[in-house]
Order: sequence, then C-alpha cells, then structure tokens
Amino acid sequence: MSRTELELRPARSVSPAERAELFNAAYEGYLIPFHVDEATLAFMDDAFDLDLDASRVAFRDGAAVGLGNLGVRGEDAWIGGVGVVTAARRSGFGEALMRALHDEARERGIRRVWLEVIVENTAAFALYEKLDYRTVRDVEVWSLPAAEENGSTAREVPADEAHSRIRELRSERDPWQRADGTLAHYPDARGLATEGGVAVYRQAGEHVQLVQFAGEPEPLLRALRALGSVSLLNLPEDDAAASVLGELGAKVVVRQHEMLLEL
Ligand SMILES: CC(C)(COP(=O)(O)OP(=O)(O)OC[C@H]1O[C@@H](n2cnc3c(N)ncnc32)[C@H](O)[C@@H]1OP(=O)(O)O)[C@@H](O)C(=O)NCCC(=O)NCCS
Repeated sequence: MSRTELELRPARSVSPAERAELFNAAYEGYLIPFHVDEATLAFMDDAFDLDLDASRVAFRDGAAVGLGNLGVRGEDAWIGGVGVVTAARRSGFGEALMRALHDEARERGIRRVWLEVIVENTAAFALYEKLDYRTVRDVEVWSLPAAEENGSTAREVPADEAHSRIRELRSERDPWQRADGTLAHYPDARGLATEGGVAVYRQAGEHVQLVQFAGEPEPLLRALRALGSVSLLNLPEDDAAASVLGELGAKVVVRQHEMLLEL
C-alpha cells in the first residue's frame, strides 16, 4: 500500500460522534449485530480502559476507513475492536492498524496484548495469526433466562467483600471485560453470597450481568436468575459453571478464541 494513501491518527483526534459512526461502519456485516452510539462508546472507553492516545483511526485519502482500539492496564493491553469499512478491506489497513497498536503498546512498556475473536471470524483470525497471536483458550458468552427460585439461601453482601473473597478463591484469570480493572469502573456492582460461592454482578432492570464469581456455581446462578435474565461474558469453555449453565437451560450466544501476543 502506498504510504501517501494511508494515514493513522490517534483516536483522540476524532470526535466521539465520528468514532461511533466509524465503529459501526467498520463492523458492518459482523457475525453478531453490532451497534454503538456515543454513550456506549464512552462506557467502553471507561470500563475497558481504552487509551485514546494509543488507539488509532486509519484514513485513506482523507476519509476515515478503519479503527483500532487499545485498552491499557499496566503491562497488559487488549484490542477493544479493530475494523475496516467494507470498501477498504483487503488493502492492508487492518494489518497496519494492528501493527501501529503494537508499536504504541511497546512504547508504553506493555508486554502482553490480548484479544478475543469469534471462532467463525476467519478473516480476523487469519490477521491475528499472521501477526503471531496464539490462542490461549476458548471462551463463551452465555445467556440464562430468568426463572423463579424457591428457597434460595443467597444473601446480598457488599461488593467489595464479595470481590475480596473471589480474589482468594479464584484459580483462573478473568478475561479483560470481566477483569478486576473493569470491575473497578462499576460503582453499581453488587455482591451475592451463598453457602459455597460468591459473585459480583450488576443489574439493570430485568437484566443481570454476572461479572465475577467463585466457588459452587449452581446456587449462585439459581439466585441470580431469580433477579432477571443473566448474561455472562467470555466464560472459559472448561469452567465448571459451563456445564451447570447448560443444565439450567442457558445458551451459548457466541464462542471466541482468546488470543495473546507477547511483545
Ligand atoms: C478483520 C479485518 C479488520 C481485516 O482488515 P483488512 O484491512 O481487510 O485486512 P488486511 O488487508 O490488512 O489483511 C491482513 C491479513 O489479514 C488476513 N485477512 C484479512 N482479511 C481476510 C479474509 N477475508 N480472508 C482471509 N484472510 C484475511 C490475511 O492474512 C491478510 O494478509 P495477506 O494480505 O498477506 O493475505 C476486516 O475484515 C474487518 O473489518 N472485519 C469486520 C470487523 C471485524 O471482524 N473485526 C475483528 C473483530 S475481532
């Protein structure tokens, strides 16, 4: 690609409205319906620590054609979306954006870059393999319908208390969108405890977002679904909660490879 055609600018130089519009255009035809507005984007920037100085927007002949978002937490980074508008795909923009994010990451002393890619997204997976990412594990997004529960002994506890207990009990790393760094941005987080387990979740109306949990999953899931429909992002496929979710009638919405590049 000729260098005069391609220009990469920090995401901060683009207005929130333009970034949202570009995000939607770059994800046109995505495997699952994807739409952000300015409020959603502001939520993502905050919750996932997207660094707008490190993140990039790609321009071709002055027109924005792609974007790459980089979340930054200490020595770890996360690709919070990379996309190129349909008319500009297969011209090297996606690769150029990713390489620019890696350069920005290196400059910040980052050692690991994480991402998730939907298993059916062969174009993106090929891009990440070309850039030497390797699959670390497969993770699944789950959806559990609401259901009444009788006799639950679960009790509300302060979120901080629940989170401390989770930190003591957990054995696996939580993926970026449910990690401690994300939880730190959720002032509305709530804690729930049962005899053998503990959870941190958020509730918006009839919808419950399970953020972190540890211990026996079934009583927790039963108590949470009594509050509303439950969603759980990127649960490792071999987590004990996966089979419990299946038995309770939950469905996998999407399956992803979690990938890692060590810089
Ligand atoms: C994934 C995406 C960003 C790739 O952007 P792009 O600008 O088309 O990719 P590039 O032209 O830079 O291609 C770089 C490499 O990626 C791989 N690749 C890209 N598109 C591919 C496709 N359709 N099929 C197979 N490999 C593909 C190839 O390895 C390619 O290297 P090559 O040109 O030497 O073969 C683009 O398809 C897109 O925006 N998709 C929709 C949004 C999305 O899925 N984002 C990723 C979410 S995890």
